[in-house]
Amino acid sequence: MNKPFIIRGDIIFSNQDKSLNVNKNSYLVSDGYKSLGIFKRIPKKYKDYELIDYKGKLIIPGFSDLHVHAPQYQYRGTGMDVELMEWLEKYAFKEERKYGNNTYAKKAYKMFVDELKNGYTTRASIFATIHREGTRILMKLLEKSGLSTYVGLVEMDRNSPDYYRQASVEEALKDTEQWIVESQLFDNTYPIITPRFLPTCSDELMAGLSELRKKYNLKSQSHLDENPLEIQFVMEIEKDVDHYSGGYIKFDMFGLDHDCIMAHCVHNNEEEIKLLKDRGIFVAHCPESNMNVTSGIAPISKYLDMGIRVGLGSDVGGGSSLSLLRAARQSIQVSKLYRRCIDMNLRSLDSKDAFYMLTRGGGEFFGHVGSLEKGYEFDCVVVDDSKIKTLLNDSPEERIERLLYLGDESLIVAKYCKGKKII
Ligand code: GUN
Ligand code: FE
Repeated sequence: MNKPFIIRGDIIFSNQDKSLNVNKNSYLVSDGYKSLGIFKRIPKKYKDYELIDYKGKLIIPGFSDLHVHAPQYQYRGTGMDVELMEWLEKYAFKEERKYGNNTYAKKAYKMFVDELKNGYTTRASIFATIHREGTRILMKLLEKSGLSTYVGLVEMDRNSPDYYRQASVEEALKDTEQWIVESQLFDNTYPIITPRFLPTCSDELMAGLSELRKKYNLKSQSHLDENPLEIQFVMEIEKDVDHYSGGYIKFDMFGLDHDCIMAHCVHNNEEEIKLLKDRGIFVAHCPESNMNVTSGIAPISKYLDMGIRVGLGSDVGGGSSLSLLRAARQSIQVSKLYRRCIDMNLRSLDSKDAFYMLTRGGGEFFGHVGSLEKGYEFDCVVVDDSKIKTLLNDSPEERIERLLYLGDESLIVAKYCKGKKII
């Protein structure tokens, strides 16, 4: 374990009810892994701990990226001319195929991991590709970075090009089990079962993945109800289910007995929304991707107000940027369009909702993560927001709001994950 220490600054995190917990000029104590609490004065019992003084700086929890495709990083910010299903064929599969080449994988994944490490994100749930060795290369780089992440070997054996699909169910499952076993080596990088989405996974593959998930007690992640043309296709090929979610439920790949992230959830019907709640699904809200591949706007305020678990995802390369500050401001902006253009009965999101999703909302997937209260894992970012110029004297709430709208990675002074300083 790392040495215990104390940092001082203006400490702000989200309460469970999404209000801000503000601690001006206070001390945050770490035992080298977890938070031991926040104090106005250093308690006697901690007086020998090293003090790192960030007076005047903001100290906030690290962000969780609940949905991102590492192999799509290279073409991020391009390929925005088509909708989802065409986009997968035209860009995603073609790029992901290249990760069968380990030299390419090493070079490309290093760029991805470097940027992730230097941002506000401390936790992420990541899609790799169908290649076992390439995925291991990504996991090694992540392990070295000090971030704490879940990584999925992507599974797909139908409705995908011959050049980019697993050769057979048997081979896919054998490969996956070997990868799960090999991954036990890592301390901070964990395997997660990752059927790409229902259209690309046969019943046999889903059944086998489900068995592996249970055998090794793993979490799972996939995509759900993202785009109208995708949903139409699912309903054409899945004759025995009433809705998209039913295709995952059939194979116990939809929460309930395990933590499960479903990315997007833009077009869930009422029954499916209820299932998100009843089964404790984590929704990964990816507003930029939903705009870029013409998917729509997810009704996130409704989800939050129902008590559905929601975090934010960058969804690179459907989204163009790994910066979750951007995802946060976009989540607020698209919620206003939803209200004005789709349903005036839904409230729009505000900066407190967005900050909650960035930290506590997404963090819950990783355990006691996303807050700075005593007992939470010590993930935080120290931010010099005085670089955002203004003559006004912002309240703590306004400092957070400005950070979401105007902040970028150049404001970061330090970042800790599980009590370890990583930048
Ligand atoms: N659905 C299946 N695969 C993908 C992907 O790579 N990106 C997005 N946005 N949606 C998907
Ligand atoms: Fe995605």
